[in-house]
Amino acid sequence: MEFEDPVVKKVYDIYGSVVNTRKPVRDPKKILEVLRREYKLIVKPYIVYITISAFMNNRPVLFEGPPGTGKTEIGEAILTLWSGKSAFVLPCSENYDEYRVIGDFHPAIAMVKGFNEESFIPRPLLAALIMDTGVLIDEIRRSSEEFQNMLLDIIDKRRIVVPELKKVYKQSGTGFQIIFTSNPLDIAQNELSDAFLRRVIRIEFRYPSMEEEYNIIKLRLGTLINKLSSEIISKALKIVRELRQKGMYKPGTADLVSWLTLTALLADAKGKDRAEYIELCEAGYATLLKNPEDEEIIDELLK
Ligand SMILES: Nc1ncnc2c1ncn2[C@@H]1O[C@H](COP(=O)(O)OP(=O)(O)OP(=O)(O)O)[C@@H](O)[C@H]1O
Ligand SMILES: [Mg+2]
Repeated sequence: MEFEDPVVKKVYDIYGSVVNTRKPVRDPKKILEVLRREYKLIVKPYIVYITISAFMNNRPVLFEGPPGTGKTEIGEAILTLWSGKSAFVLPCSENYDEYRVIGDFHPAIAMVKGFNEESFIPRPLLAALIMDTGVLIDEIRRSSEEFQNMLLDIIDKRRIVVPELKKVYKQSGTGFQIIFTSNPLDIAQNELSDAFLRRVIRIEFRYPSMEEEYNIIKLRLGTLINKLSSEIISKALKIVRELRQKGMYKPGTADLVSWLTLTALLADAKGKDRAEYIELCEAGYATLLKNPEDEEIIDELLK
């Protein structure tokens, strides 16, 4: 491809090989189907319907909810299906700033050539806007208020200004959509400003029902599920529910899937056809005990 703008050329040089293309899917019903079949994600329909409606209106979406409920994986998958290109994922931290997400200058090249297109290094948010693909901004509450304000400006105007280059890059299609994730109960987090919350469409994630979670396990474990009896599975389903109520560390669906996967693999490693209670316990301590304060309750539940 020929590019007139050297920054656009750089974006394709740097990110072209990591952004895979696929057929876009924008119909919510089809998205739900593809999420299940290709991504092994069982997603509540309202999540997909509201997200897609927001995208049709060029509005960013905020997925909020407890850990391990699929926010990151579901967000990335929906963005990828919507734009037909793999989404960019930006994991936020306190020191995220425009230089990390929009672009900065290579110090040695800038010394020789100056602050211009030659020394400029485009970063993922600018790359996503130029390539018209989605962006997942993960754990937004971990970022600073300045960072959030900078994003608001981009979201409102759908363009990125690079003052040093005297350039403005504009959204060129409908693929550049944004999903934020956040877990409001996580410790050491910043509040989201009213200005921020006004602009996003907020979608709340909750733990799945027993039946939904059972279906997720079946889908995720594949043939490994044959190693687990229905008693073992229902015991695990009940225990994670107890811990979500009473534990300090609240296991998400992600923890349940790893617990049961480990249980099945442990049985396999020991040459057993089926996992017994002992494997469920061993794998249980290894996957659920993350906080010493939970030891007593886990002992009780796994007894
Ligand atoms: N709806 C779901 N369908 C299938 N798997 C799921 C679902 N929800 C959670 N999982 C399991 O959890 C994993 C994805 O969890 P993910 O990291 O996306 O959650 P999260 O909400 O972003 O958690 P955190 O707050 O810790 O970042 C999957 O790999 C899968 O094992
Ligand atoms: Mg996440």
